Amino acid sequence: MKIIQLTDTHLMPRGVSANGVDPEAQLRAAVTDICARHADADLLVITGDLCNHGDAEAYDLLREILKPVPFPVRLLLGNHDRRPEFIAAFPDHPRDRNGHIQSFMDTDYGRLLFLDTHEPDVIGGVYGADRLAWLEEALAGAEDKPATVFVHHPPVRDGIRHFRDISLHDDGALLARLTAHPAGIRHIVFGHIHIPMSGTTPEGISYSSGQSCTHRFITDLDLADPWWTDGHPVYRILMIDHLGFRAFTVEVGQTPTARAPICAGP
Ligand SMILES: [Fe+2]
Ligand SMILES: [Fe+2]
Repeated sequence: MKIIQLTDTHLMPRGVSANGVDPEAQLRAAVTDICARHADADLLVITGDLCNHGDAEAYDLLREILKPVPFPVRLLLGNHDRRPEFIAAFPDHPRDRNGHIQSFMDTDYGRLLFLDTHEPDVIGGVYGADRLAWLEEALAGAEDKPATVFVHHPPVRDGIRHFRDISLHDDGALLARLTAHPAGIRHIVFGHIHIPMSGTTPEGISYSSGQSCTHRFITDLDLADPWWTDGHPVYRILMIDHLGFRAFTVEVGQTPTARAPICAGP
């Protein structure tokens, strides 16, 4: 199974930049590359902070940019999003009975879970009792199938100073529930931190973040107020198959410098 992950696209109304980068140009370039090179993908997931201020105009722009994608799309909300404006622009997008943008998808390689940690006017994430109740049912329904989790806010401790107080505000409840799934968690995929990171929880669950498609941080673990910077539009190819879970980062627009020679095997 081939999944494309975009994250933290932070779209603004047409032509408006955010933190010195044009998010529309970045996303258009990424989507053009995805459609040209990965039309065989099974799914596109954008792991939140779809729009920078949650403007209706920005969600309309997102819908327009995603129109050429020839495979299913799941969108997650981040702290920068606004749920009512999102639902107005994507009224048919799956959501749970409480209106949270949560859903699951069963595949040959287990159940994919798409979680909603957005809480209005909170920069960090919230995953309260009603959302946990939905997750309880979704994990119970997965039975003996492993789950792969997509969520905006990292449900793990990332150790980055800037995110110390704006990560998921749940005292570890979400991670504890995921860890208890008897068939296992294949991987936790998140966004929010804008830089690539991967790790393993003390219990042995692997996780990684995508790099923002638009502005990203100059990586610094200790600065409370790190600098934004620009760069190529970025997405990830997530493969889930008989080899397990693998994630590859693609930077759109890299310049070739020299060709790697073909290396013959023994
Ligand atoms: Fe973000
Ligand atoms: Fe975020």
